Amino acid sequence: MISRLLLASARSDRMRRVVVGVPLTRAVVDRFVAGEALEDALAATRELTGAGLAVTLDRLGEDTTEPVQADAVRDAYLELFGSFAEGGLTKDAEASLKLSALGLALPDGRSGALDRARAICEEAGRLGMTVTVDMEDHTTVDSTLDVVRELRADFPWVGVAIQAMLRRTEGDLRDLAGSRVRLVKGAYAEPASVAYQSKAEVDRAYVRGLRLLMEGSGHPMVGSHDPRIVEIALELARTNGREPGSYEFQMLYGIRADEQRRLAAAGERVRVYVPYGGDWYGYFMRRLAERPANIAFFLRSFL
Ligand code: FDA
Repeated sequence: MISRLLLASARSDRMRRVVVGVPLTRAVVDRFVAGEALEDALAATRELTGAGLAVTLDRLGEDTTEPVQADAVRDAYLELFGSFAEGGLTKDAEASLKLSALGLALPDGRSGALDRARAICEEAGRLGMTVTVDMEDHTTVDSTLDVVRELRADFPWVGVAIQAMLRRTEGDLRDLAGSRVRLVKGAYAEPASVAYQSKAEVDRAYVRGLRLLMEGSGHPMVGSHDPRIVEIALELARTNGREPGSYEFQMLYGIRADEQRRLAAAGERVRVYVPYGGDWYGYFMRRLAERPANIAFFLRSFL
């Protein structure tokens, strides 16, 4: 119930003004977001890669309402890549893109979002980096997969996030066989007509999806902090004869940081998803919704 309320608030402009306007919010946001500036993203990247972790950078900006904002997000990625190249950071870095940030939801937004994503992929490819496209709410899945398909024709290394909670997912995973797929549980409030509602059902669907990916020929990216999922992933990798590096774990910045380092020290490939930028509200509210303890922490700092 609280989760649903928070996820609904993630779309409310009124709530956004309240939450963003409270100075103390900042301290809580800092746990999940590397910072607002490019320099913050670079500092987090240096720290994480120095500790043996890989990173995927998300330039926050899902509330794009004008093409000029979408252009600014594209340019921010290009600037970030330039700084990675200068700082010798390209080897362990990639980018995560939200197509809404690149303008997918604007009127006639598909071709603009595709062009901007293509420009980002071209530069990433030139620098030997990869790109993964995030998945947003279920109404965007078809258009996102459509854009990803077009990108993959030129850049076969483009990955995509797929949400285990959606009932359609097993079919999508079969279509994506052989590619880079980040399997996540799903962070959006979805109706029962399209998504499993209970944690047990979502977890079971996740394991079915993971089995398909580990048995396949692609590069599975295990996007979860769930200790049981991590154990199952390790076991599936072993039984399918996969070496670390032919799959990878991915976790979010600020969540189970010790576990990220433990897995990396054990020889696993671990990539941390690092969000940065000023438009952190939607991302932050989804992180609160995932875990009641985060809400308590947040409310305490409000008080
Ligand atoms: P689960 O929610 O069951 O949590 C397991 C444990 O992890 C918890 O008990 C707790 O210890 C810890 N944990 C989880 N969330 C936490 C939080 N917010 N704060 C503190 N501890 C927490 N979703 C989506 O819809 N589209 C996308 O593109 C992506 N991309 C993405 C990338 C990466 C790298 C990750 C790790 C996740 C995503 N997600 C996502 C989010 C995903 O769908 C999901 O909401 C979260 O990962 C939480 O689910 P878990 O699998 O971690 O398990």
